[in-house]
Amino acid sequence: MNLNVLVLPGDGIGNEVTREAVRVLRHVAAKWNHQLKLTEGLLGGVAIHKTGTPLPPETERLAGDADATLMGAVGLPEFDDAPPEKRPEKGLLGIRKALGVYANLRPVKAHASLLDSSPLKNHLVEGADMIIVRELTGGIYYGTPRGISGEGAQERAVNTMTYTRPEIERVTRMAFNLARARRKKVTSVDKSNVLENSQLWRKVVIEVAREFPDVELDHLLVDNCAMQLILNPRRFDVVLTENMFGDILSDEGAVLAGSIGMLPSASIGARKPSGAWVGLFEPVHGSAPDIAGQNKANPLGAIGSVEAMLAYSFGLQEEASAVDAAIEVVMRSGRVTADLRPPGTPATTEEVGEAVCAAIG
Ligand code: IPM
Ligand code: MN
Repeated sequence: MNLNVLVLPGDGIGNEVTREAVRVLRHVAAKWNHQLKLTEGLLGGVAIHKTGTPLPPETERLAGDADATLMGAVGLPEFDDAPPEKRPEKGLLGIRKALGVYANLRPVKAHASLLDSSPLKNHLVEGADMIIVRELTGGIYYGTPRGISGEGAQERAVNTMTYTRPEIERVTRMAFNLARARRKKVTSVDKSNVLENSQLWRKVVIEVAREFPDVELDHLLVDNCAMQLILNPRRFDVVLTENMFGDILSDEGAVLAGSIGMLPSASIGARKPSGAWVGLFEPVHGSAPDIAGQNKANPLGAIGSVEAMLAYSFGLQEEASAVDAAIEVVMRSGRVTADLRPPGTPATTEEVGEAVCAAIG
């Protein structure tokens, strides 16, 4: 099979974790005889430095041409005071929108071998296995009007949370279809006691749910959901929510998985005639400039994103399962990075990438 992949390492640890993810991708392609064509592009702070903009038109074109895109992380402290158009994050939001990847799938699993890495008590976390389906191309991240205006006491800032019915419908269908292949339960998360936006969300989710009578649906307010994620994480199977709530809750989910460095994500859009999904694959973590370039970041979130790419964009289930099993072997070996607080000397980013390849065989 031809695997035509665009790689966007981005900023900070995006570089080193993506290098290991690509190592695993090359290894898989060689072992299963796939023709891998890798192209590299600029996104985020590095793109601002080289071209003046966080999402150069060339990157957008390359992403459109590729079968799938692998992203590292974006963001650098030097841009903290930059205007919105000149911020690295704007590049990521732009490419998500350009690719139309409206559903961000973020699996969160408490791996048996990592239970001690979580600051939570083992008996609470044990067995937790959920997938957060975060709407990714709408809501307050993109709504207009937005901006800061006025001066002095008149200075004010506006953001707008907006959703249309079709935007809610398509991501809801994605969540229910995923639930069908899992424990058949969707929990929709909103703030419908306060926000009209959430009232429409809940209404549309209930309507779409009628197409899936075999899947159970319940609703949680986002504040309560934040609490239940810690108190009773096993109650969750598929968590369906809007863009900003999903952003926040998925970082909380990282605590269950032991470290945010563990979490992969798949952002999925339309289905192509081939049956493959348009996809952008990125670890959930950020660019962590404080540890960048030190060969100590955890590459397993990025490597897990390669696994998701193999499954969703290329339909290569056997290869994806092999990566999954290899990650499991490495976790059990205890040779993991410092964020997982292993006993003894932590492994380097590179050692973990090499160990995953060795475990694939
Ligand atoms: C994420 C990140 C991004 C987001 C930032 C970097 C724009 O936090 O993917 O979770 O908020 O979506
Ligand atoms: Mn986030």
